[in-house]
Amino acid sequence: MILTVTMNPSIDIAYRLSAFIPDTVSRAEETHKTPGGKGLNVTRVLSAAGEEVKATGLIGGKNGEFLKEQLALAQIPASFYPVSGDTRNCIAIMHKGKQTEILEAGPAVSAEEYRGFTEHFRLLLENCSAAVISGSLPPGIPTDCYARLTAIACKAGIPVILDCSGESLKTALEAEDKPIAIKPNIDELCALLQKEIPKETEALKEALSSGIFEGIAWIIVSLGADGCFAKHNDTFYLVHIPKIRAVSPVGSGDAAVAGIASGIVHGLKDEDLLKKANTFGMLNAMEKQTGTVNMKNYDMLYRQITVTKV
Ligand SMILES: Nc1ncnc2c1ncn2[C@@H]1O[C@H](COP(=O)(O)OP(=O)(O)OP(=O)(O)O)[C@@H](O)[C@H]1O
Ligand SMILES: [Mg+2]
Repeated sequence: MILTVTMNPSIDIAYRLSAFIPDTVSRAEETHKTPGGKGLNVTRVLSAAGEEVKATGLIGGKNGEFLKEQLALAQIPASFYPVSGDTRNCIAIMHKGKQTEILEAGPAVSAEEYRGFTEHFRLLLENCSAAVISGSLPPGIPTDCYARLTAIACKAGIPVILDCSGESLKTALEAEDKPIAIKPNIDELCALLQKEIPKETEALKEALSSGIFEGIAWIIVSLGADGCFAKHNDTFYLVHIPKIRAVSPVGSGDAAVAGIASGIVHGLKDEDLLKKANTFGMLNAMEKQTGTVNMKNYDMLYRQITVTKV
């Protein structure tokens, strides 16, 4: 079973408006409320692909109850740890092809709740073959949270796939116990190395050879519609993907992470793991809803991907 961690889940509220004009009243033509958070996107994709998966993280208040109900309706197994604050809302306003987002920070989590979660996480790992940790942290959770969760998983012999950015990524990379895989996109890679990196083989090879990545077996840099560039131990790969009609690429990185986790759990060969990750990413980009894949198109896309050692 794959365990996914979403420390700061949300109820994603999407409003569709014909026009969005500040300082006036806007009436929504359409409203959707769905469970959100990067780890939950990974969970949905793994579940759609037939993987055994369980979602964990922190949840609280009436919003937390709603989220749990929605996950149960979607038949997604979950074991969230309760906190006293209310799970956040994230609002996306769609207007004339544009999207304006308002993201709440999330509930303030106490030191005791955090300690309680780490113990909950340790117990859940007992039946797992991998852990996927994604997304941002709510207020009150220290920046080294993902480094700490990775250390707990490593002690239990469970590989960790980590998809986060900024300080929490940097701290996790510097820690003694390493994730087996990370999946920064090109912007996150540039931010981490504090320099511009062109999307070309030699520059990417040099970037992924940086000492900061020492001990990380898989570094997979996703390049949106351009596929990805990867390093597994000492081998570099360029992955070329076909042109598709993308509807909404939001969450494609999360779908790719689901593919990486599945590939690691099933011990896939490098080429197959990379093809699976990119196929999931593309399948998500072809759907309107974030963290959704239509597996009927899987083989058709998979066959068109080429992986080259560079
Ligand atoms: N427009 C697109 N067309 C085709 N494939 C795409 C497109 N966008 C994303 N993908 C696929 O999904 C993978 C991950 O996408 P991307 O690089 O956008 O991740 P990301 O920036 O981490 O996304 P997010 O954080 O929103 O989940 C890519 O490597 C590619 O395989
Ligand atoms: Mg991403």
